[in-house]
Amino acid sequence: MSKEKLATALSKQPQAELLLFPTPIHRLRNMEEELSYDGIYIKRDDLTGLGPGGKKLRSLEFILGDALAAGADTIIVHGPGQSNLCAAAAAASAKLGLRCIAVHNAEKSAQYEGNLLLNKMLGLESHFLGKVTQGERERYAAELTEKLRAEGRALYEIKKGGTTGLGILGYAKLALELVDQCEAQRLPIKTLFVPVGNGGLAGLVYGNALLGKPFDIVMISVEYSRSELSAYMRACIAEAEEILQLPFGQPLEDAVTILDTYRGEGWGRNTPESEEAVRRMPKREGIFIENIYNSKVWVGLEGCIRQRKDWGAVCYLHSGGFSSLFGQMKFD
Ligand SMILES: Cc1ncc(COP(=O)(O)O)c(C=O)c1O
Repeated sequence: MSKEKLATALSKQPQAELLLFPTPIHRLRNMEEELSYDGIYIKRDDLTGLGPGGKKLRSLEFILGDALAAGADTIIVHGPGQSNLCAAAAAASAKLGLRCIAVHNAEKSAQYEGNLLLNKMLGLESHFLGKVTQGERERYAAELTEKLRAEGRALYEIKKGGTTGLGILGYAKLALELVDQCEAQRLPIKTLFVPVGNGGLAGLVYGNALLGKPFDIVMISVEYSRSELSAYMRACIAEAEEILQLPFGQPLEDAVTILDTYRGEGWGRNTPESEEAVRRMPKREGIFIENIYNSKVWVGLEGCIRQRKDWGAVCYLHSGGFSSLFGQMKFD
């Protein structure tokens, strides 16, 4: 499919203008030298340009575009205390003049640090439920929604961490951005290394497939097994197909390689290698990466290029989350 056809289909969806496009791409020369590999690029989606930045703003463009089109005046978002999505939603809501309420399955901490500090400055209204399950958090949010609706608020809930058919369209748009950028800057990028929590980057897989697979995509899972993720991603892509009316038309495994071998004990738990990567990247490249997503993707990228040399020029998607570092790192 042509770029124009995908761009036209995407442009028909309501979008809130939040990002600075395109985010920069540059080489990581010191890492190239360290790994004896020619062509390691980084796509700086940490620099999306609003609030704490990060890739979540891409899904929020479509989700909040939909909220505005529906006449919403209040956004409800869920997540852990240091959630990057909650901070990004707070910043986007501030820009769009919306009230934003977050429901956290976390204890209210004595100190505002990391994203909690930014959330406060962004005017986010936070409800801390303590250590409850995701189900309990969702029930609380549903009750709160009812209560606020009864008070006359027009509510819009951001579901599933923004990883829905609508939310992933932001990353289908990223596929277009990458193709345009590679053409304009004559970048020889062949393989993309990207993070996957609950599957938001399925949109990149979808967009890339619609464009005839200009890139090979390697997803590094930080939480779920390959089979669990494949199921989530297929469901999101099916919703996106329904919205855009553009068929994906191929088995998921032909469109992406999902590696679930770098997650260690799962979400929020560093492996020794990922912990080391968080400390090494700033010293080698002057760039901060956080513990949960970007560190494990970097370890995955290194592992892959140590095993094989035929990936072509690779590009590491820095998905942001810098602000959560302040709540994550402790030094004596
Ligand atoms: C910085 C960062 N990178 C990557 C991800 C993964 O996104 P997803 O859960 O949509 O796969 C997240 C999710 O919160 C994130 O905050």
